[in-house]
Amino acid sequence: MGKKILVTGGLGYIGSHVVVELCAAGYEPVIVDNLSNARASVLERLERLTQQSLTHYDVDIRNRAALETVLERTPCAGLIHLAAFKAVGESVEAPLKYYDNNVAGSVTLFDVFERAGGGGIVFSSSAMVYGDVKVFPLHEGMPVQPNNPYGSTKAMMEQILADLVNAPGAKTLGLSLRYFNPAGAHDSALIGEDPKDRPNNLFPIVVQVAVGQRETLTIFGDDYDTPDGTGVRDYIHVVDLAQAHVMALRELLNGGFEQRFTALNLGTGTAYSVREVVSAFEREMGQPLPQTLGARRSGDVATLLADPRAAAQAIGWTAQRDLPDMVRDTWRWAGAARQWGLWDDDDSAAAP
Ligand code: NAD
Ligand code: WQD
Repeated sequence: MGKKILVTGGLGYIGSHVVVELCAAGYEPVIVDNLSNARASVLERLERLTQQSLTHYDVDIRNRAALETVLERTPCAGLIHLAAFKAVGESVEAPLKYYDNNVAGSVTLFDVFERAGGGGIVFSSSAMVYGDVKVFPLHEGMPVQPNNPYGSTKAMMEQILADLVNAPGAKTLGLSLRYFNPAGAHDSALIGEDPKDRPNNLFPIVVQVAVGQRETLTIFGDDYDTPDGTGVRDYIHVVDLAQAHVMALRELLNGGFEQRFTALNLGTGTAYSVREVVSAFEREMGQPLPQTLGARRSGDVATLLADPRAAAQAIGWTAQRDLPDMVRDTWRWAGAARQWGLWDDDDSAAAP
């Protein structure tokens, strides 16, 4: 097996796809996930997908002693840090929950990793660090000015990581990946977005309406300054996103970046409106989607679009998949999950 890579949040939506791509690239993922927003059954589905026995520690990143034991037992050359809470609305209602988990937890994790010998840290950030911007496309030189506690936790962790790796004698290099709007699922339909709590994102909500778990999709406003008036976003296929992590990690471990800390946007540079997403699902499903027009959602911007050139230049990555791919893979995953009863009340469901 190749180099061991610690993957926090490795049983989550994006983390599970990263684990698959790490194995495909010859790395050995070591998963730390406290299952606060993931099912234990993801591990056996990942082992089926990768045809490998995988190591998972049910550990909270805030538990210093447990993290020290993990790294003593399995020294890792790199760390891909995805573990976090990610709901913007909840972060406004319970900011300290987010600062404790996303900031204090990450500080503990980074400290344990550096003291254990350091290496490369790839950090899961978000386009939310740019805040409420009215310009697009967004490039990495734009000001970091988050406008909600969740976005602030990401901006703070970017600064903390930059300060760590630039400290005298630091053994760690840092890379922050600012995701735009991840969507889609692995084409095996064994893993995909499987929110434990009530999702806020468009794709999982469309799925819930399509499978009858929700009555209707509320379209949050159609009076934005966009081609059809609905919100426009830069959706990125989760497999493209996962592959970008492997390419970025390889470059980081090979010392390929000029700076000890770098931030890169991960988006496609192509954006789609809410109505375009809905129409794409209706074509895939072959039936209309129940929908109503509602008021704008507070905090929403009209358009969020990445300038993806820096990632293409720095790690040779560009998105390979488009909206039809994201919709097709999401719909296939939803069908499989329902077939196993994954979204029934109990967690006993297992893939056939
Ligand atoms: P997710 O909730 O599916 O995955 C996060 C995983 O981390 C879960 O499996 C959860 O159990 C685990 N976790 C959370 N707190 C933990 C802790 N204290 N200790 C150990 N494990 C813990 O979310 P996701 O969509 O896969 O997001 C992964 C990362 O990407 C997050 O950092 C998120 O902020 C970031 N991100 C997500 C999006 C998105 O739209 N999904 C966009 C931008 C950035
Ligand atoms: C997309 C578009 C909505 C739901 C979020 C988080 C962000 C990041 C990515 C973590 C918008 C519209 C949505 C619905 C709708 N996550 N919409 N009806 O808000 O761009 O970003 O996910 O880092 O932090 O904020 O994505 O999927 O919520 O919304 O009309 O029921 O769909 O108005 O235009 P968003 P989203």
